[in-house]
Amino acid sequence: MRTVKIFDTTLRDGEQSPGAAMNIGEKLQIAKQLARLGVDIIEAGFAISSPGDFEAIKTISGEVEGTVICSLARAKEADIKRSWEAIKDAPKKRIHTFHSTSEIHLKYQFRIDQAEALRRSVEMVKLAKSFLEDVEFSPMDATRTEIGYLCEVIEAVIDAGATTVNIPDTVGYSIPTEFGAMIKTIREKVKNIDKAVIAVHCHNDLGLSTSNSLSAVLNGAGQIECTVNGIGERAGNCSMEEVVMALRTRSDLFNADTNIITEEIMRSSKLVTKITGMSVQPNKAIVGANAFSHESGIHQDGLLKDKSTYEIIRPESIGLHKTKFVLGKLSGRHAFKTRLVELGYELSDEELNSAFDRFKKVADQKKEIFDQDLEALVSEEFTTVPETYSLVDLSISSGFNSEPTAVLKIRVGEELIEKTEHGDGPIDAIFRAITSITETKSKLLKYEVKAITGGTDALGEVVCSLEEGDRAVSGHGADTDIIIASAKAYINALNKLAARKR
Ligand code: KIV
Ligand code: ZN
Repeated sequence: MRTVKIFDTTLRDGEQSPGAAMNIGEKLQIAKQLARLGVDIIEAGFAISSPGDFEAIKTISGEVEGTVICSLARAKEADIKRSWEAIKDAPKKRIHTFHSTSEIHLKYQFRIDQAEALRRSVEMVKLAKSFLEDVEFSPMDATRTEIGYLCEVIEAVIDAGATTVNIPDTVGYSIPTEFGAMIKTIREKVKNIDKAVIAVHCHNDLGLSTSNSLSAVLNGAGQIECTVNGIGERAGNCSMEEVVMALRTRSDLFNADTNIITEEIMRSSKLVTKITGMSVQPNKAIVGANAFSHESGIHQDGLLKDKSTYEIIRPESIGLHKTKFVLGKLSGRHAFKTRLVELGYELSDEELNSAFDRFKKVADQKKEIFDQDLEALVSEEFTTVPETYSLVDLSISSGFNSEPTAVLKIRVGEELIEKTEHGDGPIDAIFRAITSITETKSKLLKYEVKAITGGTDALGEVVCSLEEGDRAVSGHGADTDIIIASAKAYINALNKLAARKR
């Protein structure tokens, strides 16, 4: 059985999803979870793209162990040097450099010929190699590149020291038989191919990214690049959970597996959803809310007799457990902490104290606290940002024959400001009051409310995505009152925007 490496690019390509921008603390949380999940390589960012990306990669390099930390770099000297600066403290590190090779990109975007693209690629792989051993090269838009030239580039970069050659289907153009054949040709035609691992990086524009990646594995690929929940540029990347569970479930066919601890999949998926604000469609394979629900009577009958009749994956194998009632208002700090540790959360004393305060408030209003409620409470710890604005008080009146009115008190720095606003509905009135107090001009891209567990006293979780100029962020709020959760989510998003301006 071969081991296929999992290269996770949630923090780089995943972050290129509109509205999925993350701050350093959030990226660190995801990186720690990816390490727990057992990914082999974390692409932590694109060091030269912004000071924030550089800092995030540097922080992750210093704090996350057990996995290779990688930075992306264009085939440019400044990019490679900046990447090296960002990752040099990581115990295991990689530079991933890339240059387009397709005629379309070379002619219209770069205005250079094939020889020049080859020269730049080789030179920059050599430069990266002068800093470290582990160098990956990607011929961007490989699937629309003339195959003879593609093989020539791959051979040259391996000679220059690339230890991984990645074949990106940048625009999600290929189909499984064609992509598999491409990997096979590369293995046959590139003389020194045994000196490097073949990786694949498939986008999902035609909904084929998982199939293409699996076809590549059947043809000898040794590394798959993917993201949690399949987030990423445009239609996204190959989804980590799909490709990993396909390899695990059909290892009879692939004769290959990964190092992923599949029981951590669900938690990773939820964390990424929470932080990016990008929810997973209910019918999404593996991590969708309906992925293990059986509606049909015939299916239910079969399942009751034997699970294997209609279940190809055990829910527990991806970390999905039956909802458990765990705590209530009489539970103490010790029980709270113990359950969090069982769920895999390690909080500092300070984080524990503030999560416990929130737990007590919720427990006053909600009789039974489930694991999902605890996760929502704790995740607020991970998404905290400096509080430029903080909600002090809120009251709302709304009814059949009255105009919705919100009165809000918000602390802005040292100042306490109160305003009353009207709106189409209570949420509109609240959001108007918040923008008027904070004097901000962001555009609301998305507003989403969901109940975390069943019951009318369920904790409501709200995600608000806001855009200001070229920046888009998602804010979160959880409360038994969805109006308060909405205000918290909006203010959390404004705080994220404010933090990015600093
Ligand atoms: O899709 C792509 O081609 C990329 C490269 C940088 C590998 O993301
Ligand atoms: Zn990509």
